[in-house]
Amino acid sequence: MVVLKKTSLLVFFFFFVLLLESTFEQQTSSLDEKSALLLLRSSLGLRSRDWPVRGNPCLNWNGIECDQKGRVIKVNISGFRRTRLGNRNPQFSVDSLVNLTRLASFNASRFSLPGPIPVLFGSSLLTLEVLDLSSCSITGTIPESLTRLTHLKVLDLSKNAINGDIPLSLTSLRNLSILDLSSNSVFGLIPANIGALSKLQHLNLSRNTLYSSIPPSLGDLSALVDLDLSFNDLSGSVPSDLKGLRNLQTLVIAGNSLSGSLPPDLFSFLSKLHIVDFRGSGFIGALPSRLWLLPELKFLDLSGNHFSDMLPNTTVSFDSTVSMLNISGNMFYGNLTLLLRRFQVVDLSENYFEGKVPDFVPTNASLSNNCLQGPANQRKSSDCASFYSNKGLTFNNSGPPEEKKSPKSSWLSHTKIVILAAVGGSILLMLILIVLPITVSFCVRRRNRTSTSNHPRGRHNGVGPLPPDETLPSRGGVSINFGSLGSSFNYQQLLNATKDFSDSNLIKKGHSGDLFKGVLENGVQIVVKRISLESTKNNEAYLTELDFFSRFAHPRIVPFVGKSLESTTHKFLVYKYMLNRDLPSSLFYKSNSLVDNGLRSLDWITRLKIALGVAEGLAYLHHDCSPSVVHRDVQASSILLDDKFEVRLGSFSKACHQENNGRPRKIARLLRLSQSSQESVPGSPATATCAYDVYCFGKILVELITGKLGISSCQDTQFKKILTEIMPYISSQQKEPVMNILDQSLLVDEDLLEEVWAMAIVARSCLNPKPTRRPLMRHIVQALENPLRVVREDSSESERFRTTGSSRGSSSSGRIFGSWRQSVSDPVAAGTSSLLSQAEGLATGSSTRESSRGASSRPSMKDV
Ligand SMILES: *[C@@H]1O[C@H](CO)[C@@H](O)[C@H](O)[C@H]1NC(C)=O
Ligand SMILES: *[C@@H]1O[C@H](CO)[C@@H](O)[C@H](O)[C@H]1NC(C)=O
Ligand SMILES: *[C@@H]1O[C@H](CO)[C@@H](O)[C@H](O)[C@H]1NC(C)=O
Ligand SMILES: *[C@@H]1O[C@H](CO)[C@@H](O)[C@H](O)[C@H]1NC(C)=O
Ligand SMILES: *[C@@H]1O[C@H](CO)[C@@H](O)[C@H](O)[C@H]1NC(C)=O
Ligand SMILES: *[C@@H]1O[C@H](CO)[C@@H](O)[C@H](O)[C@H]1NC(C)=O
Ligand SMILES: *[C@@H]1O[C@H](CO)[C@@H](O)[C@H](O)[C@H]1NC(C)=O
Ligand SMILES: *[C@@H]1O[C@H](CO)[C@@H](O)[C@H](O)[C@H]1NC(C)=O
Ligand SMILES: *[C@@H]1O[C@H](CO)[C@@H](O)[C@H](O)[C@H]1NC(C)=O
Ligand SMILES: *[C@@H]1O[C@H](CO)[C@@H](O)[C@H](O)[C@H]1NC(C)=O
Repeated sequence: MVVLKKTSLLVFFFFFVLLLESTFEQQTSSLDEKSALLLLRSSLGLRSRDWPVRGNPCLNWNGIECDQKGRVIKVNISGFRRTRLGNRNPQFSVDSLVNLTRLASFNASRFSLPGPIPVLFGSSLLTLEVLDLSSCSITGTIPESLTRLTHLKVLDLSKNAINGDIPLSLTSLRNLSILDLSSNSVFGLIPANIGALSKLQHLNLSRNTLYSSIPPSLGDLSALVDLDLSFNDLSGSVPSDLKGLRNLQTLVIAGNSLSGSLPPDLFSFLSKLHIVDFRGSGFIGALPSRLWLLPELKFLDLSGNHFSDMLPNTTVSFDSTVSMLNISGNMFYGNLTLLLRRFQVVDLSENYFEGKVPDFVPTNASLSNNCLQGPANQRKSSDCASFYSNKGLTFNNSGPPEEKKSPKSSWLSHTKIVILAAVGGSILLMLILIVLPITVSFCVRRRNRTSTSNHPRGRHNGVGPLPPDETLPSRGGVSINFGSLGSSFNYQQLLNATKDFSDSNLIKKGHSGDLFKGVLENGVQIVVKRISLESTKNNEAYLTELDFFSRFAHPRIVPFVGKSLESTTHKFLVYKYMLNRDLPSSLFYKSNSLVDNGLRSLDWITRLKIALGVAEGLAYLHHDCSPSVVHRDVQASSILLDDKFEVRLGSFSKACHQENNGRPRKIARLLRLSQSSQESVPGSPATATCAYDVYCFGKILVELITGKLGISSCQDTQFKKILTEIMPYISSQQKEPVMNILDQSLLVDEDLLEEVWAMAIVARSCLNPKPTRRPLMRHIVQALENPLRVVREDSSESERFRTTGSSRGSSSSGRIFGSWRQSVSDPVAAGTSSLLSQAEGLATGSSTRESSRGASSRPSMKDV
């Protein structure tokens, strides 16, 4: 009896405990959710140590967090290990998560989930705010469904094997503050509208295969603190719009194929930067001086670019803790300055610094391969002298005795006196030839025209000692190195490629050399330009071209393949072959169709595309290069077309920097005064101005509209005649007259006719006899992107601006486009703000002044 009583008591106690536990459980985790977690536990093979079966998930399971009602809101299996059984067949199998209807955070980082991201992320789990799947061995692409998780604030997919592209709709995740796709194989473009992620603070796309240019809209991310785009294949230049990243602390775009120089005003607003890493990205030119003045700079790595600049002698003191500066492998020159006081760890190796090493430079700084006095392992003095003379500067290393190891001229080395005489002589020669007439220039004097400008500081040639045969003697006896530019071919290779420069391979005889088609051994189709050095004009032209390609590359510029410079009588430049050759050979082409006698012409859509492509190329030269580059040979035959009729500009043998920011140099002006008055010819007084290119571009547009080949290359007087014939048909009021000059072979409907009309209006504006009244190339790009806005702009807007006589107050998008017609209808009183700013833009290049002035019209262009 007693025994029985005892047992029943025990049983009762047991039940009581069970009851207690289960009611408690009910309060803390709903049964549905617990079974969902148990399913997850078995599908992932989690261990009892982490998630004990009998335990209460909300209370004693690792990584589970519940809300007050006992609903699971967080699952963190980060760093968990699977059971031995679970390890046998690990899978990304998390279906039961759908029953956790309050789940806000799922963190599985470093837990292996091989396989693609299941679509249930997006078809359900819509409450997720945090999704961390970093280092999970995930494969496949980023599923479109993911972009429906609109509550997401954190999306970390880094360190997986994800491929495919970034879904455009990812930008619908408006609440995202952390986006990390780094260390995957994501391919393709950065979404152009990425600026829509207005709350983004951390963006890491590094170590993927993204190949686009950096979209300007990135600059809209004003909340961004960390930006890392490093180690992709990004190309193009850094958009100056990035200056919108006012809160940025980390800027890493190292290891890409970027080009051009940094926008001068980039750092004016990015005042919070701590870390700047641009290493190995292909940048050229001077550094924006603001960079050195960033108050919180801790880490600056610019190594392995082509920057060429002097260090400012800044005395501002910063309370720097640990700061690191690495500018090795560039073309910095001049003396070491007080600026270096800021940095504890300093690497200045492989530059061209000169002078003595001041005390404030850290004793353990890397200084090798410079032109310094004192430290060991410096460059040869002759290399230094040649570098400095290219800059129009003298190099006087009167410090310690120089070690002389003359590599190519061994016959010189036995007499020291001869060496000294040679060095002294060449310095003297450089002084006379370079400094006095300032002949150093990327811009070469041409024909009888007045000389063009010289920018001694704008010169950046190849780095480092090069094999002797890569060293070109230029006019002044100065060596210029282009060894690192493209491939070097030998003559035999080019003979093989072009079938001994056979007539059948001759494409045409160009003004700076004959062009031959060829095929390299690896099958790549090329065009070889054979330049005879009989005329000194050609000598200058090919150097100009080499210099150009050593500094600039852009999707709108013909790809430069290489060169062969061995021969003393001929030089060869090699470019990629463009399937559709150039505009004159493409505008009309033979077709197999019998309908139109086998002769077809390019349709209107393609012509518009070509016009836009040329405008984009020129806009790059004028606005993205610093200082601005003027093409000076804009004509139909310079417009090369690839298989998709995408424009690649060629013919850079006359390119040069814009003179003195658009104003003729003083000296040049004086010279001009003494010359005849041939300047009245439109465009000719200052061919080295962007406005000149714009004028020539206007001729191209006329050629595209009328289909009359040769307009863009004809003489000024002849073109003037054509101009007086066609101008009456370009009316700002009516579109119909333009039909009279339109290419007869074009069939255009009503809609397209408006585009033709718009292009004609743009052309007319470009052909304004007054250079300062011509539009800027970047405004032309905008107009050609939206031709209908040029002509369809609500007339009320234009009306208003006619009646008020000023448009300063009007901020509508109509203004810029309205002004095209305004400028046509009233070319004399072109006092519209956009033309005004265009004129000023010509004078200032792409300075901050212009951008601030253009600011009011900017938003309107963006939402176009
Ligand atoms: C996730 O779990 C891991 C391991 O239990 C822990 O170290 C980490 O702090 C957790 N993270 C979060 C955000 O809860
Ligand atoms: C996920 O957990 C790891 C710890 O293992 C932590 O470092 C990481 O910050 C967590 N992720 C998020 C988004 O909180
Ligand atoms: C979710 O819960 C329901 C009902 O409790 C169950 O029928 C369903 O199988 C669960 N779904 C998953 C994927 O576990
Ligand atoms: C985004 O965040 C805001 C503020 O935190 C919130 O009000 C809004 O509901 C969120 N939107 C989504 C889709 O989660
Ligand atoms: C971006 O991710 C990579 C690797 O995934 C990491 O090394 C780097 O530090 C991250 N960048 C930033 C700015 O956090
Ligand atoms: C500077 O950069 C170069 C090339 O990127 C690298 O080899 C060198 O180690 C760096 N120097 C320091 C001090 O980090
Ligand atoms: C460097 O300093 C020396 C001596 O002060 C001066 O002659 C030289 O012009 C300076 N170099 C540059 C590039 O300014
Ligand atoms: C920098 O300025 C200091 C004085 O402010 C001067 O002593 C020094 O010579 C200057 N250095 C250079 C390289 O110009
Ligand atoms: C140079 O010395 C400083 C301390 O004076 C130290 O912080 C730094 O790491 C050293 N740099 C190198 C490259 O050894
Ligand atoms: C180089 O500098 C030394 C002293 O600084 C001077 O005596 C000499 O004339 C200079 N040489 C040249 C070629 O300028």
